[in-house]
Amino acid sequence: MKIGILGAGSIGATLTRRLSTAGHQVKVANSRGPETIPADLLASGARAVHASEVAADVDVLIVSVPLNRVPDLKPLLADLPDDAVIIDTSNYYPMRDDQIKALDDGQPESLWVAEQYGRPVVKAWNAITSPSFDTKDSTPGTPGRIAIPVAADSDTDRALGMALVEETGFDAVDAGTLADSWRQQPGAPGYCTDLTRDELLAALAKAKAARSPQRRDLAMTVIAELTTDPLGDLGEDFLVRVNRLIYN
Ligand SMILES: NC(=O)c1ccc[n+]([C@@H]2O[C@H](COP(=O)([O-])OP(=O)(O)OC[C@H]3O[C@@H](n4cnc5c(N)ncnc54)[C@H](OP(=O)(O)O)[C@@H]3O)[C@@H](O)[C@H]2O)c1
Repeated sequence: MKIGILGAGSIGATLTRRLSTAGHQVKVANSRGPETIPADLLASGARAVHASEVAADVDVLIVSVPLNRVPDLKPLLADLPDDAVIIDTSNYYPMRDDQIKALDDGQPESLWVAEQYGRPVVKAWNAITSPSFDTKDSTPGTPGRIAIPVAADSDTDRALGMALVEETGFDAVDAGTLADSWRQQPGAPGYCTDLTRDELLAALAKAKAARSPQRRDLAMTVIAELTTDPLGDLGEDFLVRVNRLIYN
């Protein structure tokens, strides 16, 4: 498949490596230009391009930029083929991103993103921390394999997103439509908690929309305090441990 990846940060870098290793024709762009894309991302054949080139002639465009940059991206999608699928990895953190009223009022983040583009999206890879995504991939059938939720309104697009998630080394879980995708947002029990397929299905089912924003903000506060504590030896997986404690 021909895949464009917009965003070469923590998540975009791992996506670039994994999907090019899996044999896809990958091009990747950031905001600063192809010369600033680290060479190790390109070792398996991915090509660094300008952001203005990333959407042309692709089957799939994965957008992995901070959510508050999403409204700037529509012009970059002008060359995106009509039948290409957009996959969005973003998450809303009002403490970090600009405050967005529609999201504060409860609109699922993926629906807001789709509105910005004027096209549907698939929501995937948003609910795994970048360290887990980078290091905890495994082959299908591995006991304890971590699962990632995938939401979309089109069954075909969701199936495509799920197939790509599997190729990046994780079990893909059908998380339903975009209207349901608040269940995989920050603050929900299945968000960045490194669960197996069965655990993730149970976590998605027990999510409570009204509770998640407070839990998300509490986790951010706790993580910010812990990471500035000079005595803190946070140890491996501390983000996942904090999330499990607060989001469950
Ligand atoms: N980090 C995580 O643990 C994690 C986990 C799951 C999902 N996510 C979500 O995934 C998204 C990406 O996260 P990240 O941690 O990978 O972010 P990041 O490390 O900050 O990287 C963001 C990337 O987006 C690029 N970018 C920003 N604005 C752009 C624009 N207008 N045009 C083209 N490229 C642009 C940046 O390019 P420059 O550097 O050149 O500006 C950079 O390559 C976010 O929405 C985040 O919430 C993050």
